[in-house]
Amino acid sequence: MKRRTFIKQTALAGTSAILLSKTSIAFSNISQSNTLTRPIAISTWDFKIPVNETAIQTLRDGGSVLDAVEKAINLVEADPSITSVGRGGYPDRDGHLTLDACLMDEKGNAGSVVFLENIMHPISVARAVMERTPHVVLAGDGALQFAVEQGFKKEDLLTENSKKAYRDWLQESKYIPPIGEKNHDTIGLLVMNKDGDIAGGCSTSGMAWKIHGRVGDSPLIGAGLYVDNEVGAATATGVGETVIKIAGSFLVVEFMRNGKSPQEACRLAIERLIHKNPKYKNDNGFLAGFIALNKAGEVGACSYGKGLQYSLYTDGKNEVIDADYSKK
Ligand code: GLY
Repeated sequence: MKRRTFIKQTALAGTSAILLSKTSIAFSNISQSNTLTRPIAISTWDFKIPVNETAIQTLRDGGSVLDAVEKAINLVEADPSITSVGRGGYPDRDGHLTLDACLMDEKGNAGSVVFLENIMHPISVARAVMERTPHVVLAGDGALQFAVEQGFKKEDLLTENSKKAYRDWLQESKYIPPIGEKNHDTIGLLVMNKDGDIAGGCSTSGMAWKIHGRVGDSPLIGAGLYVDNEVGAATATGVGETVIKIAGSFLVVEFMRNGKSPQEACRLAIERLIHKNPKYKNDNGFLAGFIALNKAGEVGACSYGKGLQYSLYTDGKNEVIDADYSKK
């Protein structure tokens, strides 16, 4: 395993010093980027359900890249055993389950819902905002009213498990749970079809036990997700506050626009994230990460803190891969 510091990396890269931070952080081994066979689906974590496969099957059935994103994310939102997305998600500190989601298509259209309650598929409401309104973002009660008007069913999304977890949490009321293998956080998904068109989406119930009204990075275009069909796409997972402050997914796409591979772009964004959020540097419960896909069909992923996994579908098979990470 080869350790390189960011400083060495920048010396090798040479030309883009102005974009770089001053901290020196060592990273785990650096994956090589390769152009993958299309169609490609890359998603955050291993949700143990066929997320990428559903996306690819949707393309095979004649669906668009946006259909693929929506259908696959719907699967995660509907799964009551997933405690960080949709139905079964953990509530905020007042016991409300509030959902955030957004998506972007290959034409640069975007839709988003924030702080939405009682609708199982926020990603589909985000799509309805994009396709049926002149707006990009709807929030809270307005988003719920819109969803109901559009025919979405209003329902209680708390499960026995999430209610019990909340009752247990109330005993101690500790604010931030660690994010990792057991507390997966956001589903972020990027899909490229055979023609090379890209769409992406992300959906989450956000940080468990958050303050009522808190909105994370996931529904914010440019933070939790960004798609530019001419360049590539990125999506984020982990502590959303740190991602918002660097417009993380947009930053990854901009690094790619400037010639960085998806892997380098994710790593540089993590470097920026920790430079701008120094208080998290030595917090062992802290994790934030990005996955990215460029127009050439290369992918990358990197997190601050060990533990991010991503799922990659290419060449007819799906694989779960440990992301590179910065060493603390
Ligand atoms: N990344 C999800 C959130 O912070 O809400």
